[in-house]
Amino acid sequence: MEQTWIKEAYSDELPEVFHGGVKWQSPSNIALVKYWGKKGIQQPQNPSISFTLKQCRTETSVFYEKSDRFGLRFFFDGKPQPEFQSKMEAFLIGQRDSFPFLDQLDLQINSRNTFPHSSGIASSASSMSALMMCLLDIERQAKGEERIDLRKASYFARLASGSACRSVLPKMALWGETDVFEGSSDDYAVSLEDAIAPIFKSYHDSILIVSDAQKEVSSRAGHALMDANPFAEPRYAQAKKHVKELLEALGKGDLETFIRITELEAMQLHALMMCSEPSFILMKPNTLNIIQNLHDFRKETDIPVCFTLDAGPNVHVLYPDQHAEIVERFIMDELERYCVGGLWIPDQVGDGPSPVQ
Ligand code: PMV
Repeated sequence: MEQTWIKEAYSDELPEVFHGGVKWQSPSNIALVKYWGKKGIQQPQNPSISFTLKQCRTETSVFYEKSDRFGLRFFFDGKPQPEFQSKMEAFLIGQRDSFPFLDQLDLQINSRNTFPHSSGIASSASSMSALMMCLLDIERQAKGEERIDLRKASYFARLASGSACRSVLPKMALWGETDVFEGSSDDYAVSLEDAIAPIFKSYHDSILIVSDAQKEVSSRAGHALMDANPFAEPRYAQAKKHVKELLEALGKGDLETFIRITELEAMQLHALMMCSEPSFILMKPNTLNIIQNLHDFRKETDIPVCFTLDAGPNVHVLYPDQHAEIVERFIMDELERYCVGGLWIPDQVGDGPSPVQ
């Protein structure tokens, strides 16, 4: 697949006058079946499934101008960010064969997130997917093409930051090869939009911010810990089974199975961190307080609300649109007290990246 893209990459001399700007927004995503453990070059040890979000987004603009060599300046919230600039530069230089036209461009990149920096929400998925959409848009213009190939965007977003590959697709995405979904691949994510019941297309994810501290362990280090984790193989086998079961439940609109697998996956991710060496406890007391309250509420009301966790203490509360009012009232009355500064972010399933005017 990569070979074709390299061959098709725009490697001609850019027109004498070639300058302009592109601007894209791309959302974050939340995994239901988790990717935790890598192989090869940024490939997952097991397939994962995610909701694409709507409100938690990165907006990135790239101003480009023809130049005799590659140049890059990166600004976040209007301020230079040398550390991220170096990472981005290293990544793009590493992808030279795929983006040879970059050697003729000077880029100025401006980025901002729609969610608070202190919220602890991972921004690499939204930022890397937004950047890829901008780069592919510039290439599209140089080639005079109509549209951007989302599979290609997903492929390169994955190389920049694993789970970012799922953010380019609307509603729900599957990343990683599984024999139960034709076209699935370890190289890029595919859309599940046509394979899921309507109830999941407007699902809510309210993100309860339990701590705004910096991540205790980077996801790069977390993935690496799986290499020596004694439970790695059974975990990968179970995640593959969960993908099959969840795909079936998503198709049928089976909320009971959805809830069972989603919560089990969150707990397994954290259990894996606890039994890694060194070991990490990423939940906080208020993470458990929220989970306990949520379970009591579900038992009392029979409302199909559940949770998932990222590799951190914040709790993603998931529920169908038809129960939004009552669940959000419950969050305000009973759960907000466990959030740092009372902060929670009401988000929902969304449509993936789009150009910003
Ligand atoms: O994409 P990375 O390397 O930041 O890893 C993401 C890991 C989890 O968020 C914990 C799980 C996932 O599938 O998104």
